[in-house]
Amino acid sequence: MCGIVGYIGCQQAYPILIKGLHRLEYRGYDSAGVALLDPNGKLNIYKSRGKVSDLERFCESKDISGTLGIAHTRWATHGEPNDINAHPHFNESGSLALVHNGTIENYAVLREALEEQGCVFRSQTDTEVLVQLIDYIRRSSGCTLLEALREALKQVVGAYAIALIDAEDPDTLLAARRSSPLVVGVGKDETFIGSDASPIIEFTNQVVYLRDDEIAIISRHKPLQIIDANNHNTEVDIQTLRLSVAQLEKGGYPHFMLKEIYEQPNTLHDCIRGRIVDGCRVQLAGVQDNAERFLQARRVVIVACGTSWHAGLIGKRLLQELAGIPVTVEYASEFRYSKPLVGPEDVVIAISQSGETADTLAAIKMAKESGAFVYGICNVVGSSIARETNTGTYIHVGPEIGVASTKAFTGQVTVLAMLAVALGQLRGTLSTEEAAEIAADISRLPDLITEALQVDDIIKSLSSTYTYVHNFLYLGRGYNFPTALEGALKLKEISYIHAEGYPAAEMKHGPIALIDNELPTVFIAPNDDLHEKVISNIQQVKARGGSVIAIVTKGDTAIPAIADHVIEIPPVAECLSPIIAAIPLQLLAYHIAVMKGRDVDMPRNLAKSVTVE
Ligand code: G6P
Repeated sequence: MCGIVGYIGCQQAYPILIKGLHRLEYRGYDSAGVALLDPNGKLNIYKSRGKVSDLERFCESKDISGTLGIAHTRWATHGEPNDINAHPHFNESGSLALVHNGTIENYAVLREALEEQGCVFRSQTDTEVLVQLIDYIRRSSGCTLLEALREALKQVVGAYAIALIDAEDPDTLLAARRSSPLVVGVGKDETFIGSDASPIIEFTNQVVYLRDDEIAIISRHKPLQIIDANNHNTEVDIQTLRLSVAQLEKGGYPHFMLKEIYEQPNTLHDCIRGRIVDGCRVQLAGVQDNAERFLQARRVVIVACGTSWHAGLIGKRLLQELAGIPVTVEYASEFRYSKPLVGPEDVVIAISQSGETADTLAAIKMAKESGAFVYGICNVVGSSIARETNTGTYIHVGPEIGVASTKAFTGQVTVLAMLAVALGQLRGTLSTEEAAEIAADISRLPDLITEALQVDDIIKSLSSTYTYVHNFLYLGRGYNFPTALEGALKLKEISYIHAEGYPAAEMKHGPIALIDNELPTVFIAPNDDLHEKVISNIQQVKARGGSVIAIVTKGDTAIPAIADHVIEIPPVAECLSPIIAAIPLQLLAYHIAVMKGRDVDMPRNLAKSVTVE
């Protein structure tokens, strides 16, 4: 959460920084700000509550000159989202400006100590404490800015990715990280920094991913220098990005979310490519290279957050049924503060779209310390989680920018299905024929999604019936209980309608009391082993006056006879049905949110990449 961007070079920094902030806005959009060093050595800092477009309006009549600058888009943690708490923060004299992504946990103690020394604070943020601390250390000891930064970072507890500029040094940009991501883009006579590569890719595909406790010394006239916590130079490991600007744009769609929903036939194609051999065998390098670890695995523990956790629940069923391994699924935020009893005989699977979720990262570190083997399922190549895990599989669905996860979810479940088949083959729980059958079904997923997308108009028209409803219930069983959770999450995060996902049969233990003619229920009810049981659950809702929207398999005649609305999906193997059933649920949430006039890609209070606890 929070996005930071920085530039030093020959071009005017402001347009580059603003464009970069727009690209990073998915990380937070409570406020935005920019600090620019003008040609006369004056540091101009402009900040505004609201989105990056509000900042742009605010800057219209301002001096925005300068070839060195840093900028920030905020997801508020400490202090309400107002102009004062917006970044960049600065020291008392206004000569130093700093942007920060992360949380300084001991900020209150540090602030008190600085106040005792006479420092006056303007904001309620943890970030201002850091810039004032750096300034105080430099003033009181007479050291260089770099030394003051190193000393200050030793004193802070927490997570940070920061960028710092000094009015007295127009040729240097300093950046550092611990637990929050930071990428340095190396161009010709210019250098960029960003919370991810999206603000950089337009200018260079040569990047360096900063590691924990490293400081980048970015100088106008010298090559990039990176030092570690012990003040030693570290290798500048320049990597070439495989990302295109087109992937970061809406491509004619009104929202990124809709574009990403419609991309799914292609993204799943990319996800599967090269992994199903001869149309019948699943081949995952991470499994092949670590066959012994998987053969000896006592159990699998899946850790994840949000939508990735829902994918994990489906993964549990897949791995247990196809590979015969006991699986537990934990919220990473709970796992990290529990006594999970994982050990060297366990495989921990961490699922994360961004690869930066702080809780998941912490859970991985804990699992590794206990000796477990950690397998990552990530989307963002080179992300912290991808680098921290022992091995893993990328979902390769391309940048997901809409805050509500769509194509990442279907990619994650697809990878989990391939993983379950690969492990079933390896552990002998699946015969060659069984594995080949599921592998062939996985290969057909892109076409099935294309077919599932054809219901868009039907969903759009039924959405208008439900725009003003206050509550929704989502019910499913077996593989599609997690799909119900995911459908409910999609609706609540972008439309702000309260929605609850539940196992259909559990409804009678509580939620059934809520049912009346004002509470619609979405049933995820494809043809599967529990189909008859789900029909009974639908009858129970109808008997109490509730309206039912049912996701059914094409050709089903029983449910259309009793449901108020039916959305058909193509027939698919039961274990893959969540991937197809997710499509109408994504579209339903999308259309209701659009009809309610919500900001679909940037729903209130949320951020796409949650790099704080
Ligand atoms: C945020 C996002 C969700 C996402 C969750 C976990 O809450 O808004 O869409 O599912 O973080 O993120 P990850 O990147 O670890 O999958």
